[in-house]
Amino acid sequence: MRNQIAAANWKMNLTITQAEELLNNLLQQPKQLSGHQKVVFAVPFPYLSLAKNKVSGHANYFVAAQNCSNKKSGAYTGETSAEMLQSLGVEYVVLGHSERREYFSESNVVLAEKVNIALDYSLTPIFCCGEPLNIREAGTQNSYVEVQLKESLFHLSAEQIQKIVIAYEPIWAIGTGKTATADQAQEMHAHLRKVLADQYGKEVADAISILYGGSVKGSNAKDIFSKPDVDGGLVGGASLIAGDFAQIIDALK
Ligand code: 13P
Repeated sequence: MRNQIAAANWKMNLTITQAEELLNNLLQQPKQLSGHQKVVFAVPFPYLSLAKNKVSGHANYFVAAQNCSNKKSGAYTGETSAEMLQSLGVEYVVLGHSERREYFSESNVVLAEKVNIALDYSLTPIFCCGEPLNIREAGTQNSYVEVQLKESLFHLSAEQIQKIVIAYEPIWAIGTGKTATADQAQEMHAHLRKVLADQYGKEVADAISILYGGSVKGSNAKDIFSKPDVDGGLVGGASLIAGDFAQIIDALK
């Protein structure tokens, strides 16, 4: 079975004391996960080492950064390189989150560069895509998201693209409490898998995990994750609440 992933995206939340408490709560009684089930904590940069220490010794628990630079190293004040993340033992990096695209003007082209450099340093990109409300209302979401994938990922080889995790996050569902229905998520995920299959073949497409993000909660995760092309979730708000996130981990197939 494809990897099924519960990924927590803390965004810019929590003090270090709160971060430690949340990780302690979740890791005191870590879940017994099957080999294909994984839990990833995408924490703010200052907490990466803390999170890495906390998850060490817990099989199938990993740490992610929420971004990395498209540059290798050098005079880029305020940036964090993929190499730095690798040197901390970080395994994943969230790239192209809609908040980065919107507030930090990240384009599909820059994201292609970030994907490349992440792979160069053995980080697994969790590549985010998703349409805004006006595109969904116009009914053109499939082609909109397809372009995001094509422009940032389709230069990769078949071997490389299998190292990517995709997260479909419709912007209108992020932080709004307005979740896509499980059927809407499935419809888009199946479309993305078809786009991947057209480019790379069915076997490659079938190996790539596609997560859903946007108002996933303990109460709706099971329904959404039960869909055949939904391989877990990228979770914002509910990942800050230990009980809720524990329920989301339990909902993995
Ligand atoms: P919410 O779960 O808060 O809607 O956020 C989703 C998200 O942006 C995860 O990356």
